[in-house]
Amino acid sequence: MTATPEIMTAFTSGLADINLDESSTPRQGGKAAGMKKASATIYDMAATLSGGGDLWNWGMYDAGIAEEIRALLPGFGEPWTDGFSQQLYFLALRDLPVGLDGLAGRDVLEVGCGIGGGLDFLSRIVPGARMTGLDLSPVAITRANATLARGDSLRFVHGDAEELPFEDASVDVLVNIESSHTYPDLGRFLREVERVLRPGGHLSHIDVFTRQRYAAMRKTAAEIDGLEWTTDHDISAEVRAAVRRRMAPGSHFRKKLERQRLNPLMRQIVAHSQILMFGGMFAGYRPNSTIRALSRIGVVPWMSGLPMESYRHQIAVRR
Ligand SMILES: C[S@@+](CC[C@H](N)C(=O)[O-])C[C@H]1O[C@@H](n2cnc3c(N)ncnc32)[C@H](O)[C@@H]1O
Repeated sequence: MTATPEIMTAFTSGLADINLDESSTPRQGGKAAGMKKASATIYDMAATLSGGGDLWNWGMYDAGIAEEIRALLPGFGEPWTDGFSQQLYFLALRDLPVGLDGLAGRDVLEVGCGIGGGLDFLSRIVPGARMTGLDLSPVAITRANATLARGDSLRFVHGDAEELPFEDASVDVLVNIESSHTYPDLGRFLREVERVLRPGGHLSHIDVFTRQRYAAMRKTAAEIDGLEWTTDHDISAEVRAAVRRRMAPGSHFRKKLERQRLNPLMRQIVAHSQILMFGGMFAGYRPNSTIRALSRIGVVPWMSGLPMESYRHQIAVRR
């Protein structure tokens, strides 16, 4: 399966539309449907190509968090992962008022779980919780169920963030990581969060924002009476630190690339594309002269990315 130029255009123009508009006006009808279809196709493709255990977020680097994870999961880390993407997942639960110990026996839902590696990691951090992952990509969900599902402890369902297939008041913690910036109607998602959370339950929301998208989100969030926002941390510095570590010579990311049998030029092109996808522009990445020359003649797709301004962790409690 390949993402055709039409699909990429529907996705990127939809993204620009959503993220560069200061109004919180929802995108409805054909445009919203086209955007979701394009998103599902692109992540279906990613789910087919990804290695087992791959996560799809930019990650964060905080030495203290890395230590806390190693204390709970001895041996966690190199050589199979740099752990940066898992640190974001850890943050999503660690900073909740109930704390990690308070999550045993609770229902945790991740919306936008990809192929499930992040939720699988959380289920090892909090083994007593019941965890469900949901994603719009059918291929990602099929793969997660085939490789990671474990009865009631960890299951995966296909669905849409704007129309959650769950009962009212059935979830204690809803985690959402680097996913909501592609939803055509953020208000609809937040109203679904309000509906499925039990009173006293929490939303832990982590995402990257353009200036306009942040303003629109604050406006939308203020209109939803059932959610009280208690935390809004700018974690841009920690995210940039992770992206820069990934780009550095000798990094886990670079070593993984070395193991692929690519000629030096191809390796540069693959590294460039992956750096762009994993927050390179946000962390100040500038392509070298070879990549710049290739992009000028159209050999390397040039995606300058939207001007993302901040990466944030926000928590809301269901009133
Ligand atoms: C950048 S990936 C992040 C995946 C995962 N949270 C992680 O951090 O590795 C965004 C995910 O959101 C999912 N997604 C996008 N739109 C969605 C929607 N409307 N409903 C549910 N999932 C959606 C995509 O399929 C994709 O798996």
